Amino acid sequence: MSRPRLAVLGSGRGSNFVALQTAILEHRLDAEIVFVASDLPDAAILTRAAEFGLPHLTLPPSPFKTKLSPEGELALVAYLQQHEVEWVVLAGYMRVVKPPLLDAFPNRIVNIHPSLLPAFKGLRAWEQALAAGVTETGCTVHYVNAEIDGGAIIAQERVPVLTGDNSETLHARIQEAEHRLYPAALERLFTSGIQA
Ligand code: GRF
Repeated sequence: MSRPRLAVLGSGRGSNFVALQTAILEHRLDAEIVFVASDLPDAAILTRAAEFGLPHLTLPPSPFKTKLSPEGELALVAYLQQHEVEWVVLAGYMRVVKPPLLDAFPNRIVNIHPSLLPAFKGLRAWEQALAAGVTETGCTVHYVNAEIDGGAIIAQERVPVLTGDNSETLHARIQEAEHRLYPAALERLFTSGIQA
């Protein structure tokens, strides 16, 4: 069987992308990253992709802060299809995914979120956890649908909130968990063939 063909979309540092590509190179994740795309031309994830020698591109500029333009998202769909991408893997991608992409890849778009969903949806979830005073948070790999951070859960890892934690220390601990969970969850998903 051929390896699942992934495209990774991100807007930030790209540490989850690095964790995925490292897992691929270390044969812990049997997949292939076909390209990495970012909505932000200066995003570090594009530099990380270049360092791995992977194709990378910037998505068309959008007049909207929180989503691609409809034409931009259609162009992305066409590009994904031309490159025979099977799974769209969001890794710190800060635009809301809209119907052109959702409809083209039903149950084939996944994301990682820094909380134990359904708790703390939305931005800076680790700060929401600190503000709520919970003793445990975590991270979640989930399918992407029209509801932000609301798609079916694929896998979760728990992370303790420790006395004296601040935003940075808690986020760093959650990210360590993310880097374990994302490759492991995708490997299980691809080998089990189970789709929500
Ligand atoms: C991660 O914390 C992830 O949970 C959230 O965005 C962050 C991306 O970080 N969706 P990175 O760009 O992978 O370092």
